[in-house]
Amino acid sequence: MKLLEDKNVIITGASRGIGMGIAQVFADHGANVAFTYSSSEAPALELEKELIAKGVKAKAYKSNAASFKEAEDLVAKVLEDFEGRIDVLINNAGITKDNLLMRMSEADFDAVIDINLKSVFNMTKAVQRTLLKQRKGSIINMSSVVGVKGNAGQTNYAASKAGMIGFTKSVALELGSRNIRCNAIAPGFIETEMTDKLDEKTVQGWRDGIPLKRGGSTEDIANACLYFASDLSSYVTGQVLNVDGGMLT
Ligand SMILES: NC(=O)c1ccc[n+]([C@@H]2O[C@H](COP(=O)([O-])OP(=O)(O)OC[C@H]3O[C@@H](n4cnc5c(N)ncnc54)[C@H](O)[C@@H]3O)[C@@H](O)[C@H]2O)c1
Repeated sequence: MKLLEDKNVIITGASRGIGMGIAQVFADHGANVAFTYSSSEAPALELEKELIAKGVKAKAYKSNAASFKEAEDLVAKVLEDFEGRIDVLINNAGITKDNLLMRMSEADFDAVIDINLKSVFNMTKAVQRTLLKQRKGSIINMSSVVGVKGNAGQTNYAASKAGMIGFTKSVALELGSRNIRCNAIAPGFIETEMTDKLDEKTVQGWRDGIPLKRGGSTEDIANACLYFASDLSSYVTGQVLNVDGGMLT
């Protein structure tokens, strides 16, 4: 069964990792996918080709999620290219710039807040008018277990991800009466290029602490997104779903 037949979806930061995994699973479920990348064009164009080969419409856009102006321009272009309709927005773009607070620079704090949190404001604001007109839409924000429980060495990242949860719940309250839903996913330890930066001892430490005794895959997260994007969750809004192998249990 295809759960997203002919739905138009925007995913930020999908040229690799979790975003790419979501794009692939969504295309398998019949969704047309507009996605952004920040720097390397080649993998984005490669993904665009791969999605089109699955029989859906797909387009890659270079856009900095931290820029309000770029978010507005992006949404205008997507509306032009995808017949004026946006059904789902996934705010996935994110970075880490880890350090103990003692050593964290102001620039590293600001960069993480701008790309992880301000981007969610930018994109949600940019699609809001369209979703209101349609009286239907689903917004999914990629938070983190770190936003729920905190993490030493990640004050900037944890603050950005906790902020996304407050934003998600507030948008759910503001837009629920117009049939626009907004939910967050809190992934645990998902093995992507982002986590490749960690040393093997740290990675093993994460795995040991997970009841299911493994890191998650991008598909694990994509399947949770599929639930929130589709009508399977039509009575669910303002929620945070931990997809973490039981880590926070
Ligand atoms: N991997 C994990 O364990 C994990 C856990 C919890 C939450 N997350 C979150 O999931 C999301 C995806 O993570 P990932 O592991 O795939 O990371 P990743 O580093 O592999 O991918 C991040 C994506 O964001 C894009 N991006 C970065 N800055 C951008 C910008 N300014 N504008 C637009 N795009 C930008 C990158 O190009 C890339 O495509 C992030 O928000 C991350 O915080 C990841």
